Amino acid sequence: MNTWNAGLYDNKHSFVSEFGKSLVNLLNPQPGEFILDVGCGTGDLAQQISLAGAVVIGIDQSEEMVRQAKEKYPQLCFQVQDARQLEYQEQFHAVFSNAVLHWIKPPEMVLQGIWRALRPGGRFIAEFGGKGNVASLLHAVFAAVGELGLDAASLQVPWYFPSIGQYAQLMESAGFQVQYAAHFARPTRLEGEDGLRNWMRMFGSSMLAGLSEIQQEQIIRKAEQHLAVTSFCQWGWMADYQRIRVVGVKTG
Ligand code: BEZ
Repeated sequence: MNTWNAGLYDNKHSFVSEFGKSLVNLLNPQPGEFILDVGCGTGDLAQQISLAGAVVIGIDQSEEMVRQAKEKYPQLCFQVQDARQLEYQEQFHAVFSNAVLHWIKPPEMVLQGIWRALRPGGRFIAEFGGKGNVASLLHAVFAAVGELGLDAASLQVPWYFPSIGQYAQLMESAGFQVQYAAHFARPTRLEGEDGLRNWMRMFGSSMLAGLSEIQQEQIIRKAEQHLAVTSFCQWGWMADYQRIRVVGVKTG
């Protein structure tokens, strides 16, 4: 998806890079390492990685995200690139990716490009949505579509949420030794009373794109009503995020 609203992303969804900081710890960047950040967004984690003394290239398919990343961190290198078309050859000590790979299909193409981009012995560290991710939210959206008498086929769910077994197998097929793989729940707070609708507008826009603006608004309202019972509490909206985290190494 390349129609991101980078301002909304930074203002209301800063949890994406906040959670990503612990993934940077897992990456453990070293001074002088060359590191590729796939799906860098507005560059916050690339900046974190560079603070360790690593040389980072951040890539994102969204021109708007890359424009903002360059504005925020002019000392770093950011490029507009499609992660399915990586042309790097054995340049990087590590490839890093946070909260992005569930957007990019087919995953095989991305993994092959990442494997080629790594030096022998290089590592691939990633986190993204795993099986069951935002299941309640999706359930509420489909229920709303049914109640409004709309065709469920007009919803285009754009994401790929694999199980850990499925993804580990893809990594092995691409040539990685899978050294770590975990699947875990991470309920995620969506800031403010409008948290759910902001999330839908930010992340769900491609899913709802086949519907009119009025229909989208009706769906969001109904989804809010459905989810109010289970997913709204004194801290606001909670989204039922499920993550997978992997570490793969290019051996041999
Ligand atoms: C996620 O980070 O899990 C996610 C973000 C947007 C849409 C779906 C999932």
